[in-house]
Amino acid sequence: MSQVFGIDIGGSGIKGAPVDLEVGDLAVKRKRIETPQPSTPEAVMDVAARVIGHFGYEGRVGCAMPSVVVDGVAHSAANIDPAWIGTDGQTLLEARTKCEVTLLNDADAAGLAEMRFGAGRNEDGLVILLTFGTGIGSAVFYRGQMLPNTEFGHLKFRGMEAEHYAAARLVEREDMNIDWWAQRVNEYLQHLDFIFTPSLFIFGGGISKRWGDFHEFFDTRARIVPAELRNNAGIVGAALAAHEASQ
Ligand code: BGC
Repeated sequence: MSQVFGIDIGGSGIKGAPVDLEVGDLAVKRKRIETPQPSTPEAVMDVAARVIGHFGYEGRVGCAMPSVVVDGVAHSAANIDPAWIGTDGQTLLEARTKCEVTLLNDADAAGLAEMRFGAGRNEDGLVILLTFGTGIGSAVFYRGQMLPNTEFGHLKFRGMEAEHYAAARLVEREDMNIDWWAQRVNEYLQHLDFIFTPSLFIFGGGISKRWGDFHEFFDTRARIVPAELRNNAGIVGAALAAHEASQ
């Protein structure tokens, strides 16, 4: 299996690298460029094309972004410019790069990577991966099959959207005490646990590297483990999705 390019569009940075899909890791060090503000589709895809161009790459590209994505078209824009809604990001990036592009949700990409190469390997039951960052992303798998575009970060919880109640942003940018935040996350996890009865939660997002500081607050019926691919899950999963689309 040759290398496939993966790219992850985030609220603060756009990161990408060729991915070695035999081992499930970046083939070379990734390139990161700040996300343009405002993060309009044209501006973002210009930067994405620069990230790909940096490697002189030509071939299939997987691109993850923080939106519901159906057939290459973004249908939501919670932490990105609202102009994305209704935009065919896949065609836009293809036009800029002349590469064949697969566009998908960022948490779905992270989930694909964790299920193949990380904490979800060999898990056959109902698995819910959550990414805690600026927002909360979700990916759901049953018997290894993904149910795409779940948006559990936008469930109404305690009178607000769950991601306003429990995103890692509260700790990382708004100085909330981490114990306090972890207790909020636990309430949210228990709610999901009750509604979906998963066999496993995979806890992802940048803050998962501090797992040791807060996991003692979690008390769910389902097992809960930290993501293994950490920051690169979106890139690896995007490349995987692009590869699978070509099969
Ligand atoms: C978006 C999701 C995304 C998540 C993580 C949420 O606000 O609605 O699509 O997966 O943030 O970036």
